[in-house]
Amino acid sequence: MPTPPRRARRRPRLAVPLAAAVLGLSVLQAPSGSAAENTFPAECPWMDTGKSADQRAHLLLDASTLDQTLRWLVEQPANYPGVDDFEGGISYPSQLPCTPQVQYTDGPDSVRGTDNVTVFPSQISMAATWDTTLARTKAAAQADEAFRNGKNVVLGPGVSSSRTPQAGRTGEYFGEDSLLSGTLAAAQINGLQDGNPDEPVMAVLKHYVANEQETNRETSSSNMDERTLREVYDLPFEIALSKSSPGGIMCSYNQINGVYSCENPLLKTNLKKELGFDGYVVSDWGSVHSTGKSLAAGLDQELNRPIHYSPDNLKAALGTGEITRAQIDEAALRVVRAYIQAGLFDHRLPSQPSSDVTTEAHRAVARQVATQGSVLLKNQGKILPLSSGVKKIAVIGPTASNTPTNGVSTRTVCFQANVWGMDCRNAVAPLDAITERAAQQGAGVVYNDGSDPAAAAAAAKDADVAVVLGYNVIGELVDDPGLTLDGRGDQLIDAVASANPDTVAVLETGSAVLMPWQSKVKGIMEAWYPGQEQGNSLARLLFGDDNPSGRLPMTFPKSAADLPTSTEQQYPGVFPEGGNIRQVDYSEGLKVGYKWYDAEGIEPLYPFGYGLSYTSFAYDNLHVKVVKGNKLEVTFKVTNTGRRTGTETSQVYLTLPRASGEPGKRLVSFRRQELEPGQHRQIRVTVDSGSAGHPLSVWDPATDRWVTPKGTYTVHAGSSSRDLPLEKSIILH
Ligand code: BGC
Repeated sequence: MPTPPRRARRRPRLAVPLAAAVLGLSVLQAPSGSAAENTFPAECPWMDTGKSADQRAHLLLDASTLDQTLRWLVEQPANYPGVDDFEGGISYPSQLPCTPQVQYTDGPDSVRGTDNVTVFPSQISMAATWDTTLARTKAAAQADEAFRNGKNVVLGPGVSSSRTPQAGRTGEYFGEDSLLSGTLAAAQINGLQDGNPDEPVMAVLKHYVANEQETNRETSSSNMDERTLREVYDLPFEIALSKSSPGGIMCSYNQINGVYSCENPLLKTNLKKELGFDGYVVSDWGSVHSTGKSLAAGLDQELNRPIHYSPDNLKAALGTGEITRAQIDEAALRVVRAYIQAGLFDHRLPSQPSSDVTTEAHRAVARQVATQGSVLLKNQGKILPLSSGVKKIAVIGPTASNTPTNGVSTRTVCFQANVWGMDCRNAVAPLDAITERAAQQGAGVVYNDGSDPAAAAAAAKDADVAVVLGYNVIGELVDDPGLTLDGRGDQLIDAVASANPDTVAVLETGSAVLMPWQSKVKGIMEAWYPGQEQGNSLARLLFGDDNPSGRLPMTFPKSAADLPTSTEQQYPGVFPEGGNIRQVDYSEGLKVGYKWYDAEGIEPLYPFGYGLSYTSFAYDNLHVKVVKGNKLEVTFKVTNTGRRTGTETSQVYLTLPRASGEPGKRLVSFRRQELEPGQHRQIRVTVDSGSAGHPLSVWDPATDRWVTPKGTYTVHAGSSSRDLPLEKSIILH
């Protein structure tokens, strides 16, 4: 476990509870007149909603002094007067009249900095739902809570490529596939930004780019070739940007090929030019290393305490000619235009922000995400759902209960480690929910906290079924190189399963873990960090009130040696002789996630896309045809062959012609559908070579463009990356 940098320990919450105080001191606010009426004070022509965001931003900046313009480059810290860790002891000029208060909150998962928010499951749980509608709904709920809590910029969602499951923040992202990640991120950006038109909130997609580990995250370089960068690490951003317009994108801590992300020309060349991003780039906290170089590369705003973009530094750099006025104006324009575009100028934050913003409707969304995001990995002998014959259940493990054991309780696994400014005081403990639900069928529950595996085994032996919860605590600044459970969890599960073969293991982890006890238990449910409603969702799944439908958004390996990043050079990288930047060699190239396992012929423990249901599904009737413009039209039939209603996530993969050099196959489409017993549905998907995922193409570094190789393409359809009963090849000329 790396030592957290000192700054991280002492930093206050970003979404400070001081928001109300700050609002009290606020700069002039926009009038609350609705956009439709388009009434605005004569002295504020930038409030004319009849004009475009670009025109309005120009009007504002044309009327601004240099100091006011410079302030936009640090507008977030400037809004924390008196909070030295943010404003940095600098006096900022007031912005022009009608300019809104802009308040940021961290949070791909939930709103930070106040206690009574809804604690949603981690994003990896969201990813396991494969449900874009739910992703949007959740984000809209989060945005509503943010706005009422006095925040109108959310630093999220985030995407990564989950290059290694050892990465501590895996739980904050959407897994290892760019299509799944980019699509869900877009749904959340749209939910945040458009979910509540009268409570506008702007989203910041993060962290650009190749930010794939916490070990030396600020002093490491992600080294890779151009094709890998484009096809693996840029692609989730590209897909998200093709389906949504986040106001901001956050550059990351790491270097890419020796150049810090926030001063890397990629910001301009890839992000702004190639991918057409017209919002602003904001730094991560403390990830800026220069003034002139960063501005020239395309960094528009410095987050939190200004150092390199402080007004004095910017003026000094202007004075020496290191930067130009045009560069400043461009950065400020991007910031202001994004705020206007997102609606921040037209709807003021509440003058009395509430710290009690959770609602029953939002908790229902949290419950739904936890339910749909839980993945049933094993169900030997149909141990689940628990039958009415089960009369005595042993619930084992510290995270089952709200009473801490050695400091660990249900709250420990609500969300990932080092999430500053959040609490899970309203967590529904699995023990309580299971006890209540068991009583409905006349069953009783005994609890053992798992601190003594022998005592836990004794409790399990005496029961009809044992439900044992394993957990790990990973997150920001904390990688998990061994992929192991905390608190001697493997030993605990082994002891329990040895005492009672009717054991169900429930995992509450932020990423994949190894399961040395896997063959001993009959049931395994991966629940991730399931948020405050975890007990309710788990009880409903265990007793069959809900049918599991989650699918793995990442591969679970059998051993750490099977990972695509198994050498030290690849992870965590090595410091060169005398060097202080860890060099991380992305030598696995395109072979990330399931593509690695496919290309290398390695059997995973559980593959990408996998997850069981209490019913079963069958596939047939695959047809593939090429339609105009290099599009594939794919149709197939899915049938619910079991006895209860269930939701199937059908997946379509494509193998490119061998000459393309692509490893294995790639996901090109997915579709969730609920089917009643015996019901079938014809699925039709179009795989469009012109779409942002470039499903039929590869990046050609020689010509700097995507090319579609000629040759044989094979379409596969089925229910996981390793269960694809349908296959058809076609030739593209
Ligand atoms: C994280 C960012 C986060 C920021 C908030 C950083 O440590 O990397 O994801 O948005 O803190 O201040």
